[in-house]
Amino acid sequence: MAILLSVTGFDPSRWWQALHEAAPERRIVVDASEAGGEPIDYAVVWKQPPGLLATLPELKAIFSLGAGVDHILADRQLPAVPIVRIVADDLKERMSEYVVWRVLDHFRRGRAYRQQQAQKIWHERMQPAAREITVGIMGLGVLGIDAAAKLQVLGFRVSGWSRGEKRVDGVETFAGSAGLGPFLAASDILVVLLPLTADTRGIIGEDLLARLKRDTPLGGPVLVNAGRGGLQDETAILAALDEDRLMEASLDVFNVEPLPAESRLWSHPKVFVTPHAAALSDPDALAPIIMRQIAAHERGELLDNVVDRQAGY
Ligand code: NAP
Ligand code: GLV
Repeated sequence: MAILLSVTGFDPSRWWQALHEAAPERRIVVDASEAGGEPIDYAVVWKQPPGLLATLPELKAIFSLGAGVDHILADRQLPAVPIVRIVADDLKERMSEYVVWRVLDHFRRGRAYRQQQAQKIWHERMQPAAREITVGIMGLGVLGIDAAAKLQVLGFRVSGWSRGEKRVDGVETFAGSAGLGPFLAASDILVVLLPLTADTRGIIGEDLLARLKRDTPLGGPVLVNAGRGGLQDETAILAALDEDRLMEASLDVFNVEPLPAESRLWSHPKVFVTPHAAALSDPDALAPIIMRQIAAHERGELLDNVVDRQAGY
């Protein structure tokens, strides 16, 4: 039995090493032809080449190297085996750090003070209290719930929006299309942690931006997107920033990655760009989780964190 590690966009060697260290007895190959006739039972992937997994007749499950699985489901010839995504404290903690960092920077006027420093201007800005700010989290899943708890510790009011009704301690929750309007109208800082699905593609567009609360204690609404680039209409975001309908944005994900040099987002004074780095998938932390799942599956146990293909996440 062999495990295929198939990634696009980065060198797989750190992942190969971590998977190997987690289970040295396993044969892990980065190309199916290296399996030497052994059947490939499991695939561990990030943006696998379309059609590749359909060529593996013994495949029993596909493991994503991240929390998101849009990169797997984009393959139209995907075999009908379970797809497992990453749910791990390490990933969750990294994402919450990013969310707290970006929320605090916008809230504590990071951009304005960086500009003032460049011009040696000593001027104290009006600063509301955290309890006066509502952070609205779109996507109240594993990552959204953790970020919500950490923002609450800092004193922010937190609300959340999900597909189905949810109850989360201390969080005002909204669900579905009926809940979206009131959720947006109450959010001073909007944090997007949604998966990219047929329903969510392009959701951060003109309509959503027009429904955001305008008179926030910060002087305007703020957007933080660490979900997926496909959720956002970048032209609509730029227009909202240019017309002061959106005060600032932190964007970690983009429609095209790497973000093309000609994108205005790179140099827009109100935009903070990170290169899809909000929550790194750390091979040393995550490879043992994947290998434990494979071992459990071989013992006949059920897989955890299996994706609902119909819902797309
Ligand atoms: P998750 O646990 O599956 O949570 C997804 C949340 O989104 C759930 O609350 C779900 O609602 C909600 N949702 C899905 N479709 C929706 C819709 N049509 N309308 C309203 N709400 C909807 O996922 P997660 O582990 O929190 O991860 C979320 C995403 O973060 C990933 O899919 C990935 O794209 C992104 N991510 C990015 C990075 C990065 O570095 N930038 C790193 C990790 C993950 P229900 O609760 O009702 O199901
Ligand atoms: C990263 O983008 C992930 O989906 O974990």
